[in-house]
Amino acid sequence: LPVLAADHELAQKSTLNAILKRGELRVGLDPGYMPFEMTDKKGNIVGFDVDLAKEMAKAMGVKLKIVNTDYDGIIPALMADKFDIIISGITINQERNLQINFAGPYIVAGQAILLSKKHEGKITSYKDLNDPKYVVVSRIGTTGEQAVKRMIPKAQYKSFEKEPDGAMEVVNGQGDAFVYDLPFCVVFMAQQGGKNLVLLDKPFTYEPLGFGIRKGDPDFLNWLDNFLYQIKEDGRYERIYTKWIKS
Ligand code: ARG
Repeated sequence: LPVLAADHELAQKSTLNAILKRGELRVGLDPGYMPFEMTDKKGNIVGFDVDLAKEMAKAMGVKLKIVNTDYDGIIPALMADKFDIIISGITINQERNLQINFAGPYIVAGQAILLSKKHEGKITSYKDLNDPKYVVVSRIGTTGEQAVKRMIPKAQYKSFEKEPDGAMEVVNGQGDAFVYDLPFCVVFMAQQGGKNLVLLDKPFTYEPLGFGIRKGDPDFLNWLDNFLYQIKEDGRYERIYTKWIKS
């Protein structure tokens, strides 16, 4: 069959073709967002997203390369072709979707609150924190930060470079509340919550998490959506979900 000019052009733009040619899928992520991506005791990056990425590379028949990337700059890094895809618990929101495309969602999260135990029973929702006397903490460049600025504007906002450092600020009594995606809060509560924290576990935002890719690449988008649909139905997703999330 003659190769049409349009087909040729499409092949040039297809990240999927580039991955197959290279023999390697490059995934951009930022460890710190438990249980999606984190560093284990041996220094390996592990988690829900990492297992999804492994499954993805396997289905493509290529090797997996994790590109450790600071979350604050993860969208510019994708656009600069530092990697092929963001698999980093990234929330699909309209602002980001103006810059990049998303496949999925593959799971839904939302903002929850790790509250200092001293406020137990007195603060029961994000609304109660909307007062200049409270210090509310989150991580820079995330939807947690956006939620605090938008929905708790009167509180003093304190930003951290890494999730666990932000949450520790509340454990140590320097902050009144840490606002972050519920799955992280659940894991942190179990590990460090102890006698210092209370988890307000009713999410107050709606946050679908997706796979971020560059715009103008319907070939890759189509492969990812069908991959996701397949693993959700054939047990692979369930196995990964049970391993990292369902306790
Ligand atoms: N879902 C939140 C967001 O999109 C937090 C994700 C943080 N991810 C990470 N790998 N540190 O902003």
